[in-house]
Amino acid sequence: MKALVLSAGHGKRMRSSIPKVLHPILGRPLLGWVLKALEPLNWEEIIVVCGPEGSVIDFLKDKGVKTVIQQERLGTGHAVMVAERELSGFAGTLLILYGDTPLLRSETIKGLLDHHREKKATLTLLSAVLEDPRGYGRIIRDERGRPKRIVEESDLKGEGSKEINGGVYAVETPFLFKALREIRPDNRQGEYYLTDIVEVAYRWNEKVEVFFTDWPLEVLGVNTRLDLSKAQEILRGKIAEKWALEGVTIEDPKSTWIEPEVTIGRDTLIRPFCFLRGKTSVGSNSVIGPFVEIIDSQIGQGVRVDFGCHIEGSFIGDYCKLGPFTRLRPGSRLEEGVKVGNFVEIKNSRLGRGTKANHLAYLGDAEIGEEVNVGAGAITCNFDGKKKHKTIIGDRVFIGSNVSLVAPIVIGDEATIGAGSVITKEVPQGSLAVERSKQRIIPNWSRRRK
Ligand code: UD1
Ligand code: CA
Repeated sequence: MKALVLSAGHGKRMRSSIPKVLHPILGRPLLGWVLKALEPLNWEEIIVVCGPEGSVIDFLKDKGVKTVIQQERLGTGHAVMVAERELSGFAGTLLILYGDTPLLRSETIKGLLDHHREKKATLTLLSAVLEDPRGYGRIIRDERGRPKRIVEESDLKGEGSKEINGGVYAVETPFLFKALREIRPDNRQGEYYLTDIVEVAYRWNEKVEVFFTDWPLEVLGVNTRLDLSKAQEILRGKIAEKWALEGVTIEDPKSTWIEPEVTIGRDTLIRPFCFLRGKTSVGSNSVIGPFVEIIDSQIGQGVRVDFGCHIEGSFIGDYCKLGPFTRLRPGSRLEEGVKVGNFVEIKNSRLGRGTKANHLAYLGDAEIGEEVNVGAGAITCNFDGKKKHKTIIGDRVFIGSNVSLVAPIVIGDEATIGAGSVITKEVPQGSLAVERSKQRIIPNWSRRRK
């Protein structure tokens, strides 16, 4: 068995400068969703027909598929013809599908292929009966109920049929390429329609079967941005449902975005307006949100990420507490039990067990030990205008408020830095460093001023 995915269309109705099949839903391009649905099945080969732009080919680079380029987009039938050479010598069943149907499920593809085999059909179509069939090709049957042809919406002449063409075909290859020689672009769009092979099969008395999905929404083809948001809403709901059934409480699925590669542990609570994206994992018994975005990060168990945090490319150990309003930029690593509070920004830094930075601090390129206390307004001055430098802070250090640590700098274990100090030299272990001018008192100042 081989699969052929047609993905070369302009996507004119998207009104976009990027190819339609690359438009993402929950971070994954439409074509990526289709390839995911194919993944669990056993393919000798998957071939994707793409347009001449490089971006689709780039996306497919590491996907283990073959690509064929359709220079001129002359229709879905033409797209299959372009792949003929790639398929020469192949006489088995070919599954043809479109790169713009992100809701299609593996079990439906499998059901269609099983049906095709059981019925020994030459061609099997995927269909659904839709209350509102607008936008889809319609399956027209003869008086004996046999599928006779497919008529596109724009070519309809009053034929009423709610049985739509879902755009997935299992077809015997020798028949396919013989049939494609018969089709002509004599329709409203002036294109070679793949769907015209149904009429050829009917004429040649080949067996055409129709397989119905038990979930009609799944045939949704994305042609416009409205379709894109519809598909997005459905996929988002499905993911939220899956995690709810796995034991995660999602307070408001409608405002929650969980991308497909995210994992979440049991008894974790996801509060409204959270976005869990990319390769993010959240452990069990954690509370996330409301209004939190987490991208490509690992969050441990028993963690609290309060209101308004933004976390990217970071590791957060068990029982940490973050926020409200904390920002973790890539490369941040918080070990177990770390507390980071409001308006603290951390970048490319490690904070050891039990360390606290409760308010208003910037920690960048820092290596910070255990049980350290970082005061409000403390800053690692890691950038000298040209290069970034490291700050190294030992265990159980106390850093007072409004301290500037001018990197590169080393602060020894159990050192104390007085509030307001600008530290430029190494502070030895156990010592106190204070850098500020002496306080002056001028008595009776207000009276003298008058
Ligand atoms: C197509 C079907 C329609 C079906 C619907 C299901 C045809 C003629 N019509 O219509 O019966 O109900 O899908 O979603 O097939 N493509 C190419 N090269 C081309 C043209 C298209 O690779 O020259 C690709 C597109 O990238 C797309 C797919 O084929 O992924 C379908 O093309 P599209 O224009 O979206 O077809 P529909 O009008 O939706
Ligand atoms: Ca389409």
